Amino acid sequence: MALLFPNVYLFDRESDLLDSASRLWNRTFEERLQSGKRFLVALSGGTTPIPFYQRLAAQERPDIWERTDLFLVDERFGAPDHRDSNGRMLKENLIRPAGFPSKNVHLIPLDKKTPEESARAYEESLQIFFRLGRGEFPEFDFILLGIGTDGHTASLFPGTPALDEIERAAVAVRLEGDRRDRVTLTLPVFNRAGKIVFLVRGEEKAEIVHRVIEKREPSLPAARVRPLHERPIFFLDRKAGRKLSSHLQGNRGVS
Ligand code: 6PG
Repeated sequence: MALLFPNVYLFDRESDLLDSASRLWNRTFEERLQSGKRFLVALSGGTTPIPFYQRLAAQERPDIWERTDLFLVDERFGAPDHRDSNGRMLKENLIRPAGFPSKNVHLIPLDKKTPEESARAYEESLQIFFRLGRGEFPEFDFILLGIGTDGHTASLFPGTPALDEIERAAVAVRLEGDRRDRVTLTLPVFNRAGKIVFLVRGEEKAEIVHRVIEKREPSLPAARVRPLHERPIFFLDRKAGRKLSSHLQGNRGVS
């Protein structure tokens, strides 16, 4: 399998990063529209993408929301609408303020007894929506991912079995200690997507960004995202990109 080298964009100003990411989103949407297709996206939680979601919501483009189906990349398992829920965060920052039609929103169900049941139910809803046959995976147009300081992405953590999943589109992830269990999409889904977009901000991510993008350490989940169709795209602020080699530091964004 050929390894597609990533497109890395670095920004000094948050507003430029958000402009560029929104342009990429809108452009991908227009491409889908022109080919008469719906825009199929899967979005991550975490804190980094919140301003991006708010920016999208502020666009006042009901034409986009009408033709977009929004799925979650991952979710923290707990009571529906709990404080750490990615679905709750997306409702507050994108779904409600944008006026996203509820029929187009496909959250990870939190009304199940276990994360395993929740993952099964989510997988079934993917199978129905994408009309998947046995062994097939959903193909999203745009997946937004983040990176944790340990190199995790989505809810794929280093050394966990979910990272080696090759058959299922969504699985449960049991975590130790007081961390909430999770439900996550898996690498086969990420690797089949059209645009894989990482959004990463902050000094504390500089080292891991270098290890993911340049060293491509296979123990790091984010480095295991290797899209088959298009180069992965990294939108970084200057601090997160500080440890990258100089040839990667000159790229200023999507025009
Ligand atoms: C989540 C994510 C997770 C996140 C990283 C980065 O639900 O938290 O899917 O993978 O993207 O942990 O999080 P921050 O953006 O908060 O640094």
